[in-house]
Amino acid sequence: MWTHKHLLGTADIDAARAERFFARAEHYLAFLREGERKSEELRGKVVVHLFFEASTRTRASFEMAAKRLGAEVVNLNPKGSSVSKGESLLDTLKNIEAMRADAIVVRHSASGVPHFLASRSSIPILNAGDGLHEHPTQALLDAFTIRRKRGQIHGLTVAICGDILQSRVARSNALLLGALGAKVRLVAPRTMMPPAAEALGPTVTVHHDLDEGLRDADVVMMLRIQNERFGGAMMGSTREFARTFGLDPGRMGIARPDCLIMHPGPVNWGVELSTRIESLGDRVVILDQVESGVAVRMAALSLLLTSGRAVGDAAVAS
Ligand code: NCD
Repeated sequence: MWTHKHLLGTADIDAARAERFFARAEHYLAFLREGERKSEELRGKVVVHLFFEASTRTRASFEMAAKRLGAEVVNLNPKGSSVSKGESLLDTLKNIEAMRADAIVVRHSASGVPHFLASRSSIPILNAGDGLHEHPTQALLDAFTIRRKRGQIHGLTVAICGDILQSRVARSNALLLGALGAKVRLVAPRTMMPPAAEALGPTVTVHHDLDEGLRDADVVMMLRIQNERFGGAMMGSTREFARTFGLDPGRMGIARPDCLIMHPGPVNWGVELSTRIESLGDRVVILDQVESGVAVRMAALSLLLTSGRAVGDAAVAS
């Protein structure tokens, strides 16, 4: 049973809870791959999207997930809403609740916004990425993809490389993959590594050299430089970053021969990933991640909008 009311982060997802989640996602992946792709499970429910930051994959995939489950989606564009007239987040929440929405999916540039909303919300809040903090559904879909491709996560070495400092994906993944028994390497130039990054888990190690991070890795996850934050200030030049931290097929020779190549998107081709990486064929699983994303978000919506309530709302906010 999934007893959490909200999905805010990965810090409290242990192996048993993740397994239950993956079983549900597996069910939806099979469902999506079948001809019939629309269920009535969430019929009559309305999910409100509050995206204060740009998004392609996360937003579309949450929307598809809700629709495949029979729910309606209302996309509230903050730029065209009263938030742009100075309405507070709390008032926005209270108004959405008063309209009897069933859940809110929120993305915001400020770390902690989903937690703030959750502390005051009577309906489930799903974090679709908050600032530099967490992006739980991305980590769940990444772990789900690795597990499907490799059978298990325990014992694997996963190198997460690039702009770790500004990446909520890196943070959520380090926490979740660590809890699932992977050895997590965080690999970045010194300017792009958060202080005390090792504190993200007992299996986390920190590396400043890409080749060192890649040695015998089972999975490599590349990240783009988050230029919309303070990206520009963190590096000498894009060309320098591409030369020292860009991944190409030659460099992959250091990793295990079956090492998977992942990226949460959007990819800045020619910077963190060379287009030549495509020559590695089905070891590049970037679009598998996207496919998994819909199934994982279906699992998240289903668990929060049905079973969480089914236990009489004994659910605990996390
Ligand atoms: C990531 C994000 O927004 O945190 N993208 C995503 O959700 N797939 C990573 C990024 O923007 O670089």
